[in-house]
Amino acid sequence: MRKLSAQKVSVRMNISYNDVMKDLPFGQLYELFIAVGWSDGGELSDNMKAGFIKPWIHSTLVVSAWDGDRLVGAVRVLSDTIFRSVIYDLLVAPEYQGNGIGSELVRRCLERFPGSGWLVCTEGETPYFYKKLGFTGMKETDTVLGIPCKYFANSTE
Ligand SMILES: CC(C)(COP(=O)(O)OP(=O)(O)OC[C@H]1O[C@@H](n2cnc3c(N)ncnc32)[C@H](O)[C@@H]1OP(=O)(O)O)[C@@H](O)C(=O)NCCC(=O)NCCS
Repeated sequence: MRKLSAQKVSVRMNISYNDVMKDLPFGQLYELFIAVGWSDGGELSDNMKAGFIKPWIHSTLVVSAWDGDRLVGAVRVLSDTIFRSVIYDLLVAPEYQGNGIGSELVRRCLERFPGSGWLVCTEGETPYFYKKLGFTGMKETDTVLGIPCKYFANSTE
């Protein structure tokens, strides 16, 4: 699949947010994954396509951002609604980044489960983004371990 152009959107945006729909359109969501480099755009088998959308359907909360009928951002949360909430797969189309859409997606998640503890696994410069939204570093003694997912590019690195 083709990579989205990273040319910034210069027109005034009218973004709407949806916190009800979990069954996001596979094609548009997959394009977003390719655009941010999480997927290499390889053809997926029907089984993999069906599996790709299941994590979203089974999440506690999905918030998506739309420019008309174009999906331009999304995030999902697994939460017990009171104690623990974990943010996964926050992404904004590259040409829409830097306009507050990512922050708004996360803010809508935090507002849904106020008082909950929140976790997110991130890397590179992205902690700066989350710290602006109130996230802080965990104890130095905490170690995050994992097993990579077959859907993600470079998952064996
Ligand atoms: C991270 C991401 C969702 C942010 O979305 P966005 O709509 O561009 O974010 P915002 O416009 O709300 O940015 C808010 C602030 O965070 C900063 N910021 C945004 N993305 C950042 C990043 N990747 N690293 C560091 N800072 C970032 C912005 O510069 C802005 O700071 P400022 O207010 O000082 O100017 C987007 O960059 C993205 O999709 N990245 C690729 C996928 C990814 O890494 N997701 C995170 C998984 S944990």
